[in-house]
Amino acid sequence: MEIRIFENKEALSRAAAQYFIEVINKNHKPVLGLATGSTPLGMYEKLIEAYNDGEVNFKNVKTYNLDEYCGIDSNHEQSYRTFMNTNFFNHINIDLINTNIPNASGDLDAACELYNSQLNENEIDIQVLGIGTNGHIAFNEPGTPFGSKTHCIELDQKTREDNARFFNSIDEVPTHAITMGLANIMKAKKIILIAIGAQKAEALRKMILGDVTEEMPASILQFHPDVVILTDREAVKTLIK
Ligand code: F6R
Repeated sequence: MEIRIFENKEALSRAAAQYFIEVINKNHKPVLGLATGSTPLGMYEKLIEAYNDGEVNFKNVKTYNLDEYCGIDSNHEQSYRTFMNTNFFNHINIDLINTNIPNASGDLDAACELYNSQLNENEIDIQVLGIGTNGHIAFNEPGTPFGSKTHCIELDQKTREDNARFFNSIDEVPTHAITMGLANIMKAKKIILIAIGAQKAEALRKMILGDVTEEMPASILQFHPDVVILTDREAVKTLIK
């Protein structure tokens, strides 16, 4: 694991975007693995800027998102489809047909099966991850088997509390989601994980220095050959003195 510590979010976001730009520019048909939540927003802003400046072209790009809430329509203002369209896809020249997010509003088993077969056929060139305060990556909550593929999961109470900030109240936060599994994520050729702020410090410390255990899903990344962690001083304060 390579760890890069940034002085501010601006520089971190620029560096994160740069990894994606390099992959897009050197592949004919790049496949990107994308995340939602607060963490990648700065990176998406920088990628939109790069697109506007003519540095990157999304015409041949295909994307796979990590997860989607169950029980809300894809048009819901807090669905991850809405998040991606609003914060990224609507501002670049990607064909929406090439953007994939699990369909969590119909037959869930069929949606998981379809997503797994799509991921088998399309190797992800670069995947961006955030990390939950409980150590989840995507919505693979503590206890998820390392061999898991795309599946439906019950969200931890901690995750629902953390994400309640996006809803009017915690009661509105969905209880379940479809998520890529840990085995799907580990197949990505390159992974960048972004962790910003003191609230991520404990999870980050356990992920990097702790045992590799299903109780700390992100710890599986210790076994991936190409992971870069982009972080700030607050998030690594328990790692370095
Ligand atoms: C999002 C996702 C989650 C988030 C994590 C951190 O698609 O899969 O694992 O990356 O919950 O969320 P934020 O970035 O909001 O702190």
